[in-house]
Amino acid sequence: MEQIRIRNMKESDIPAVLVVERENFSIPWSEKSFRDMLQRPESLFLVAERADPAESREIPDSEVLGYAGAVVAGAEGDVTNIAVLDREKQKGIATVLLKHLIRETIAKGVQDLFLEVREHNVPALRLYEAAGFVPVGRRKGYYDRPKEDAVLMKKALP
Ligand SMILES: CC(C)(COP(=O)(O)OP(=O)(O)OC[C@H]1O[C@@H](n2cnc3c(N)ncnc32)[C@H](O)[C@@H]1OP(=O)(O)O)[C@@H](O)C(=O)NCCC(=O)NCCS
Repeated sequence: MEQIRIRNMKESDIPAVLVVERENFSIPWSEKSFRDMLQRPESLFLVAERADPAESREIPDSEVLGYAGAVVAGAEGDVTNIAVLDREKQKGIATVLLKHLIRETIAKGVQDLFLEVREHNVPALRLYEAAGFVPVGRRKGYYDRPKEDAVLMKKALP
C-alpha cells in the first residue's frame, strides 16, 4: 500500500470529507453535522491523506482519501461513520483508520466500543469483524433508503 497518514479532522477538511460522504451514503451528513461534531469535545474524527502530498497535486480537491469518526461517553464509545473514496477502496485505508480510531478511544478511557452497520453491507461487516468487533444485537428497520436492519457490534477494549 502507498504511504498514508492519519490525522485529526479539521474544519478546513470538511469540503473534501463531504466528497467522500456523498460518494458513499444515500443520506449523507451535512456540512453542519460535521462542523458541529468537530466542536464537541467528546468526538474524535480522523482523516486519511497521502503521506506524500506531491502525489495528490493533480487532484487537489480530493486530498482526503477517507475518514472515520467516533463519539465517546464515559467508558463507552460509538463509531459513527467510516468511509473511503471509491477509487481508494480495498487498499487497507479503512483498516488503518479504524486501528487509529480504536487506539484513540482507548486513550480516552473507552472500554466498550459499539457501532451499527447495515446487515447487508458486506465490506463493512468484514472490516469490523477483522478488527475484532462481534455482533451483539440487531435494530429493526434502523436505516432508510433502503430500509434495512442494523447489526449492532461491539469490541471490548483492553
Ligand atoms: C467499508 C469501507 C469503509 C471499507 O474501506 P476500505 O478502505 O476499502 O477497506 P480495507 O481496504 O481496509 O478492507 C478491510 C477489509 O474489509 C473487507 N472488504 C473491503 N471491501 C470489500 C468488498 N468490496 N467486498 C468484500 N469485503 C471487502 C475485506 O475483508 C478487507 O480485508 P482484506 O483486504 O484483508 O480482505 C468502504 O467500503 C466504504 O467506504 N464503504 C461505504 C461506506 C460504508 O458502508 N461505511 C461503513 C458504514 S458507516
